[in-house]
Amino acid sequence: MPALRAVLVGLGHRTACYAAYARQNPDELTVVGLADPDKHRLSRFADKWHVPPEACFASGEELAAAPKFADVAINGTMDGEHVATTIPLVEAGYDVLLEKPIAPSAAELKRLATVVENSSAKVVICHVLRYAPFYAAIKERLVAGDIGDIMHMHTTENVSYHHMAVAFVRGKWNRREVNPMLLAKCCHDLDLLCWFKSGTPPTKVASFGGRHFFTPENAPEGAGTNCVTDCDIERECQYSARRHHVDNDWWPFYAFAGDPGWEGRDDEDAQEQGDQEKLDWLAQSAYSRCVWGADNDVVDRQSVIVEFADGCVATHDMVSNAARATRRLHLVGSAGEIDGDLEDGRFIIRVPAATEGEEWTEEVVEVEVKGDMHGGGDLRLVADFLAVVRGEQPSLSTTHLVDSLNGHAIAYAADAALGSGTVIDIDARG
Ligand SMILES: NC(=O)c1ccc[n+]([C@@H]2O[C@H](COP(=O)([O-])OP(=O)(O)OC[C@H]3O[C@@H](n4cnc5c(N)ncnc54)[C@H](O)[C@@H]3O)[C@@H](O)[C@H]2O)c1
Repeated sequence: MPALRAVLVGLGHRTACYAAYARQNPDELTVVGLADPDKHRLSRFADKWHVPPEACFASGEELAAAPKFADVAINGTMDGEHVATTIPLVEAGYDVLLEKPIAPSAAELKRLATVVENSSAKVVICHVLRYAPFYAAIKERLVAGDIGDIMHMHTTENVSYHHMAVAFVRGKWNRREVNPMLLAKCCHDLDLLCWFKSGTPPTKVASFGGRHFFTPENAPEGAGTNCVTDCDIERECQYSARRHHVDNDWWPFYAFAGDPGWEGRDDEDAQEQGDQEKLDWLAQSAYSRCVWGADNDVVDRQSVIVEFADGCVATHDMVSNAARATRRLHLVGSAGEIDGDLEDGRFIIRVPAATEGEEWTEEVVEVEVKGDMHGGGDLRLVADFLAVVRGEQPSLSTTHLVDSLNGHAIAYAADAALGSGTVIDIDARG
């Protein structure tokens, strides 16, 4: 079969990650069209992928309005643009790989779901963790019945202090009306809970949380307004943008987005950029604002309790300011339990063993966690999407849009519960 032809819509960090699949597997995927209102990004991607000007567009909507010239679209626009850009692509007949979160509200999600249901398009959501070997192996064990029926699930996402600072305090996900933290950060985890329980819908949700740490009242003495220009304690501060993005080179694709000295490089082709240039760029960007005085209003902690239709209870904790980023899980079933930490690269299955004279027996399952981001999930997701488009058997991990509705429904209900202090009944599908 010839390589599938892709158009890339929204030429940012995520789209570049997925497009890397075409570089590694040119016999399966080729990039033939591009769309982005940012002219610099458009021309950089056009050079990189040898896309002619007539196949470059100023928006996904414009591209969709042209006669169809590819098989699939990879949509990596920002959260608030997913619905508006995907509907015309679906109507134009493209199969779409769509970034999460699908939509900022239940009403917008329904609008897109209705269009997709009335089309023959395949729309697969980038729930990359389903493809990470850690979670894929757990799902296989659940399907095999290794712990019986799940009675309780506890998952945690520990967001590191530096990830919190760059993305959710200083960065583009720091305003709750546009990007509520739970939806933006943990729709993966809520999706995993529903995937583990697939066939049994969530029914009730409660939630507690708030923003109590990254606030002006917590600024230490000597703190300025900007890490690069006016702070007396910058060298001792764990949240220093200079430490994070210049001394340590963490999160360049956020802190230096738009910087002509940094953008234009990719993982294979990193350019050196002097420290002074980086500092100059940071100083005039949002990414050097003091973490105690940015315009963030998203929560810095949130816990969610979910009841499923069969009485299973799940809790998920979004914990920010962790020293070490990871995800943890503990699933207890009628015949055993699974306990694991994603970044450790292993999980343990324990089963009761009183009849053998032991309290329990255990099996340690080692999984690969190195490689591309998200525990190895990113490029496996693209491979699976292409297989689905080619009409091959979907994998256990495949996330058609309709399979993603329950996880998103929990996120919307949790924020409603947090706002009202009540338990919310959710209307979700099994
Ligand atoms: N799957 C994951 O685990 C994961 C991880 C990180 C981010 N994300 C999600 O990926 C998405 C992209 O994030 P990013 O950091 O790569 O974004 P980005 O800001 O780097 O890129 C988005 C691009 O979309 C372009 N754009 C805006 N409107 C457009 C339109 N109408 N048509 C075409 N292009 C348009 C912007 O100009 C920009 O270049 C977000 O929704 C984010 O939440 C997912």
